[in-house]
Amino acid sequence: MADLDGNASAKQFHPDTPATPFGHNIRGASNLDWGMQNRLARILNPATGRTVMLAFDHGYFQGPTSGLERIDLNIAPLAEEADALMCTRGSLRTSISPATQSGLVLRASGGPSVLKELSDEYTAMAMHDAVRINADAVAVQVFVGGENESRSIRNLTTLVDAGYDAGIPVLGVTAVGKELTRDARYLGLATRIIAELGAQLVKTYYCDEGFEDVVAGCPVPVIMAGGKKLPERDALTMASNAVRAGAAGVDMGRNIFQSAAPAAMMRAVRAVVHDDVDPADAYELFREASAEKVLG
Ligand code: 5RP
Repeated sequence: MADLDGNASAKQFHPDTPATPFGHNIRGASNLDWGMQNRLARILNPATGRTVMLAFDHGYFQGPTSGLERIDLNIAPLAEEADALMCTRGSLRTSISPATQSGLVLRASGGPSVLKELSDEYTAMAMHDAVRINADAVAVQVFVGGENESRSIRNLTTLVDAGYDAGIPVLGVTAVGKELTRDARYLGLATRIIAELGAQLVKTYYCDEGFEDVVAGCPVPVIMAGGKKLPERDALTMASNAVRAGAAGVDMGRNIFQSAAPAAMMRAVRAVVHDDVDPADAYELFREASAEKVLG
């Protein structure tokens, strides 16, 4: 406790100056408690309101994915380049340094492997472990239109309620069943349901037509999921189209860790998301950085 010697009496109250409002560029978050907003700000870069999230949670249902054979070797070196990491608690605790400064979004749903019906998920992580591990959000798959749609919604709302208690936001992930079409109508339905039921963040795939309406119709930030590996230039174009349509950034896995030069691709994605660099120029950035990598 400060000592009392030499205390000057308070005088500078600026009675004509109103309280300073906090600038806020996180959609739908202004009524959340300070802790929730602080955790969201560790995921969405306050300077841009966007995120480059590195996703490597694929193993929770498909085992060792190409590019994720060794997370300690393939992913850990990239971790600090990402605004946030999306992973399982198992990967985090075994393979990522606790000194990481990246935001943490932990996979908290699970159940079936690729061998079974993917919508047959349950919650797979208690919120008290998310608190213990210092998560900034937990993620849950929501199968709108899927065989176990209602249960996935129940998984979402269970985590949302526990998240409010703990001050930890929930990222709802739209899981598009094989028989469903990733069009604006479906994505608009799925993202809105997730937000209406309390998720503070939503992740969904991009669609060429009407993505701006999907984003505008969702009252919380929409983060674009990367999806299957594309040629780097196409992936950069998709990311650019998504953020220019209003997405709060991207959550990319395969398009980064399956790239011939993951660190170079991460750099190029950051340029598109945070500096609005045109995809063609970002692709040149990727090529130059890749050449540097080759030249060593
Ligand atoms: C896997 C996921 C991934 O986090 C999400 O799909 C992003 O990864 P990718 O860019 O490889 O699709 O939810 O279940």
